[in-house]
Amino acid sequence: PRILLLGPPGAGKGTQSENIVDEFDIEHVTTGDALRANKDMETEYGTPREFMQKGELVPDPVVNEIVAQALSDAEGFVLDGYPRNLSQAEYLDDITELDCVLSLAVPRDELIARLTGRRVCPNCGATYHVEFNPPETDGVCDACGSELTQREDDSESVVSERLEVYEETTKPVIEFYRERGELVEIDGEQSPDEVWNDLQLAIEDEL
Ligand code: AP5
Ligand code: ZN
Repeated sequence: PRILLLGPPGAGKGTQSENIVDEFDIEHVTTGDALRANKDMETEYGTPREFMQKGELVPDPVVNEIVAQALSDAEGFVLDGYPRNLSQAEYLDDITELDCVLSLAVPRDELIARLTGRRVCPNCGATYHVEFNPPETDGVCDACGSELTQREDDSESVVSERLEVYEETTKPVIEFYRERGELVEIDGEQSPDEVWNDLQLAIEDEL
């Protein structure tokens, strides 16, 4: 299936994408990870990092190209972190069809707590939370034993900028799909297992 997973920063898109990938054996296409892996790449607009460390969007042409390339290589996929504005949504419309558009809804206070407490493994990419999903040993990745780090854009000041960009620029994308009758909204404030349960039901319903 071709699945779009929408939601604000910290809603659990990355966490749930892992479940979707395992269940359906499809590609995880995530602009955030792709940009982090190429953060010092020189483009005509500067490097992705210059935008990401401020919590701003990376310019559309850079991101559109990443997505076009990744989707052309994928039979089925879960797309996470894209589209983030209406022009990206229109671009996506031109390059692919979707089977299922899901959106994780989580209130702002909870998003701030999730993002500022997130820890990631720089080696294998696993995601933890100091309180909501702690590793067995403090600060150490369960999967590979590496020392966990904090994402550069998970500081309180950058988080609040990211949430502002979301409100102003990305929320209209949710409305774009809602108006077309394609949007399925999921309560993302539940436990990860409960969210996954609702997502599975919604996906089965749409396929
Ligand atoms: P990106 O990497 O896409 O970040 P984001 O959208 O801000 O999303 P996050 O990865 O922060 O959150 P998530 O929803 O995946 O949550 P997670 O599962 O980790 O983008 C980063 C930057 O790249 C952007 O700011 C921009 O500069 C650039 N960029 C990316 N895409 C772009 C685009 N299309 N156009 C332009 N620029 C772009 O969960 C968060 C935490 O909560 C974790 O600690 C997790 O353990 C915990 N958690 C998860 N689920 C639950 C739960 N149910 N209950 C309690 N805790 C939970
Ligand atoms: Zn690891």
